[in-house]
Amino acid sequence: MDRFVINGGRLLSGSIKISGSKNTALPLMAAALLADGPVTITNIPSLRDIRTFARVMAVTGANVAHDESSHSVTVDAESLDRTEAPYELVKRMRASFYMLGALLGREGKARVSLPGGCAWGPRPVELHLDGMKAFGAEIDLEQGYVIATAPGGRLPGGSFTMSPSSVGATVNLLLASVLAKGNSRIENAAVEPDVVVFSEMLQAMGARIGGAGTDTLEIEGVDSLAAVNFENCADRIELGTFMIAAAIAGTPGQKIILTHARPDHLGQSFLDLFQKTGTEVQIDDRKVAVTAPAELTPVNVVTGVYPGFPTDLQAQWTILLACTNGNGKVRETIYPDRFKHIPELRRMGINAIVVGDEVVVEGGSPMQGAQVMSTDLRASVSLVLAGLVARGTTYVQRVYHLDRGYENLEGKLIELGADVSRERYDEWADPE
Ligand code: UD1
Repeated sequence: MDRFVINGGRLLSGSIKISGSKNTALPLMAAALLADGPVTITNIPSLRDIRTFARVMAVTGANVAHDESSHSVTVDAESLDRTEAPYELVKRMRASFYMLGALLGREGKARVSLPGGCAWGPRPVELHLDGMKAFGAEIDLEQGYVIATAPGGRLPGGSFTMSPSSVGATVNLLLASVLAKGNSRIENAAVEPDVVVFSEMLQAMGARIGGAGTDTLEIEGVDSLAAVNFENCADRIELGTFMIAAAIAGTPGQKIILTHARPDHLGQSFLDLFQKTGTEVQIDDRKVAVTAPAELTPVNVVTGVYPGFPTDLQAQWTILLACTNGNGKVRETIYPDRFKHIPELRRMGINAIVVGDEVVVEGGSPMQGAQVMSTDLRASVSLVLAGLVARGTTYVQRVYHLDRGYENLEGKLIELGADVSRERYDEWADPE
């Protein structure tokens, strides 16, 4: 396995490019399965999750060409002849469950493994299934698989109100309904930018979606969807992560520039709270300049659906709070168990405790390097951020979590002046 070796304490400066969004790329790739003809999507990040999804899609017989050098994926579903997503691949990445909507929409039937829980607790999919039933699908469970069938080969359509609002369920229901025989309606749909950009691609293909970008979606089923070329948007969570890195480790008074970004996708809550820490932010269209202050002010955050503070940035915010000289809190309302990184951060000297759905952080304790590891993507990146500011050397183990969702993370940090390297290690080796 690989680990990152980080020698902390380097002040960062310079400029890096933000990559394409992972969480948008996945639904865009699924949408390509609905088209008549080859679809090319550009600005696809080079990530393990994208490779996994390309493999899941290829199981169906669709032609999936993922060209990492040009950051593009071309999908031609003409040859699709198998309506299945197997357990072995779905268990690696929950978003593989998008195959349910895509196959049901295109072929009128699907056999897709149910995803399990994840590192931060149970992750139900009942909204995906209830929504498809409301749109007229027959759903059966068989040996860990969902078997979905549209009577007569195409869904009649229907109406579904989501509670809570779910990104994944909204994507899956759109995939299932844009080619339906009749019309459908989703209330309390997710309004995250990932869903909005995904709706824009479907519309470009000829889908009729009213209210895109609002929480009520009206879908008028069409008979076919056309092939398109579509550009994926920038990754808002990577942007937020690097903004936090700049705030905690940037050279005070010097700008760190993040280019090719979509700051409008971060949501106003993050931008407002981030600036309240004393960090200066200048936005010029796709460019974000972040200037670290001499001293950071602690600011409490509460996660929420878009445009609220993203749950995918709360673990990173904990490190920002630890770098202040005061006390702060992170409250998680989307996934109340998403605090598995806290015990590891405590091993680095961070004074943080979990109280119910909150993390309470007492800033100002000196952080020290340690061997740490985590069980998920955003938690792992919080350990990297801690390593940047800790005294001594931090070994962040199980880098494969980071490779799922951060393209060339060590390369970008090195470009900003961090002392980070990747090395192989044997996790089960006895200490020397
Ligand atoms: C997506 C993102 C993930 C992010 C999350 C919330 C991808 C690949 N992943 O995950 O990074 O953290 O949005 O912004 O895009 N829920 C139910 N029943 C369901 C489905 C969801 O109760 O059937 C609940 C979840 O437990 C959670 C809330 O709805 O409390 C939101 O989850 P959801 O938006 O579905 O997250 P994902 O789409 O899985």
